[in-house]
Amino acid sequence: MLTPLDPNDLPAVLEICKAAMPNDEITADILLEKTFASQGAERAFHRGYRGTDGHLSALIWAASFESTAGRMGGIRILAVRPQDQRKGIGTLLLKPAEAYCWASGAAKIWMMAMPGNYLTAGIDASYLGSLAFVESVGYVHTGTAHDYACDLSILHETATRLRERVPNEFKIRRATFRERSRVINSAKLLIRGAEEEIECALRRTPPGVFLCLCAKQLVAFIAIEGNNPGTGSIGPLYVCKEYRRLGIGRALILEGMKDLYSRGYHKSLLPWTAPILSDFLYRELKARKVRTGLIFKKSSS
Ligand SMILES: CC(C)(COP(=O)(O)OP(=O)(O)OC[C@H]1O[C@@H](n2cnc3c(N)ncnc32)[C@H](O)[C@@H]1OP(=O)(O)O)[C@@H](O)C(=O)NCCC(=O)NCCS
Repeated sequence: MLTPLDPNDLPAVLEICKAAMPNDEITADILLEKTFASQGAERAFHRGYRGTDGHLSALIWAASFESTAGRMGGIRILAVRPQDQRKGIGTLLLKPAEAYCWASGAAKIWMMAMPGNYLTAGIDASYLGSLAFVESVGYVHTGTAHDYACDLSILHETATRLRERVPNEFKIRRATFRERSRVINSAKLLIRGAEEEIECALRRTPPGVFLCLCAKQLVAFIAIEGNNPGTGSIGPLYVCKEYRRLGIGRALILEGMKDLYSRGYHKSLLPWTAPILSDFLYRELKARKVRTGLIFKKSSS
């Protein structure tokens, strides 16, 4: 039987997600951020599947969002308990969730990689069953997301050395919550879909957003823990086109890492990282690739 989820279901949802996605770090706080505490949660589509004994054994959470390419649908979470897989429950949950996304005007549906507030950046490349499932229900592999982890103990030496390379006219500083509208409006224009992460990061104490300004103009920003609280995540990061290759991106990453360190973290995570940064991450920050996620989408036509 399919029924809407209730906040009281979250402990059971956590158990299902941990069992179904064993390589992903999922906590109660993260799940709350993806579900009932997410922006527009009241308009999202969610269903749980209960067997005859009434126990929750699978769930789906879907929503629609505005991207640079128009309205999109996103399956943020789809998880079936391992012992209940291969019984048609995933397909049963997916059908009404997709109908909801198409009815909202979505041109495409993103699977397990919903920009703005994602549980995981794509499906972990080791989840062979999940990959076979999404292909069987019409999703197409469109990209690959790489997550990197950095040990923060190397930070002081590296930060001082690299910071000096940003030209003097650029000033990097922490954003204040009072600047919320300005920062969110700029982010919407520059990297649409990232607003929820920026809002989330701005609400942390102290705010987890750093800005790079040139003559008072906002030219770049980075959010710290905008997504997946407790994992030490860094991003989104954006540098306006005309200011790239000046070292601003790496200075912002380092600023974010310092911020995480001061919040008590020993490790930072850079999820869904731009491939052009991989050399810098390996070379200067001794980063390790900790996850490869495959991005799948389905088109309406
Ligand atoms: C990715 C991005 C943030 C980089 O910002 P940036 O300020 O141009 O980056 P930096 O100048 O600090 O470059 C740092 C390192 O990244 C690599 N790099 C950056 N741009 C590169 C490019 N176009 N080609 C090859 N390597 C590149 C280099 O290793 C560089 O170090 P180097 O200059 O010593 O060789 C920027 O291109 C951007 O905003 N892109 C769009 C949004 C995005 O993809 N965000 C990242 C999500 S994680």
